[in-house]
Amino acid sequence: MSITIQIDGKTCTCEPGEHLLDIALRNEISIPALCGRKPYLQERACCRVCIAEVVEDGHSKVVTSCIYPIEHECEVFTQSDKIVRERGVVLAFLKLLAPDAKLVAQLAKAYKAPELSRLEPNEKGGTCILCGRCIDACALLGTNAIAAMSRGVEKEVNTAYGAAAPACIGCKSCAALCPTDTIAVEEDEDCLTIWSQTFELAHCEACGEPLGTVASLKHAAEVAGEEMVLRCPEHRQKSIADSFAQIYRR
Ligand code: SF4
Ligand code: FES
Repeated sequence: MSITIQIDGKTCTCEPGEHLLDIALRNEISIPALCGRKPYLQERACCRVCIAEVVEDGHSKVVTSCIYPIEHECEVFTQSDKIVRERGVVLAFLKLLAPDAKLVAQLAKAYKAPELSRLEPNEKGGTCILCGRCIDACALLGTNAIAAMSRGVEKEVNTAYGAAAPACIGCKSCAALCPTDTIAVEEDEDCLTIWSQTFELAHCEACGEPLGTVASLKHAAEVAGEEMVLRCPEHRQKSIADSFAQIYRR
């Protein structure tokens, strides 16, 4: 049975267990999010940019909306004094961690993050907020080519020793899912370079459209237990249709 909740005074309905962030966004209520942006991979909830205040049975608590499942009627506040203050501090810290991340700077400005003048920004600069989405993406594909390396201020996402990783297939999933566009990808007609490694691109045999790296297509075919097919979706569809036509002609 669906549940009715109030978010910033707006009545919203949802299914039990739906995440608060999804409900808010579906109802055009803006809650900033970094590590919990769509598509979801694993529940990480590490950036805490998406916090909101939930009042249930007279009790108020601060929750991370990207992983908070709504199970009961409640009132939600995304702009209460408490949230504005805490979210501002979260964004101020993220700005120090990733001083070159444009999205973080935009959010910090939009949500009035205070200047933490007694703390120095990460002296290496950079855009990574260490959310781990890229690592999840790689792990879910079974490739595990990247991981969190080092500790403390030296912590970073990288391949082992920063060298070309034999397990990397150049699929770009990590880069596509990074909320701060940290992972550099260089691509031309024939090659793609990522994580210090250059991969050959495969092209559709029918129209020449690039399909992805040969290594990623091989991996996908292996996982699916199928032959590697060098066809774009349109020509794959066409070749299936042609095969059926042949069968019916027999
Ligand atoms: S590179 Fe991007 S996805 Fe990976 S941890 Fe850093 S910010 Fe997150
Ligand atoms: S977006 Fe929810 S914790 Fe990062």
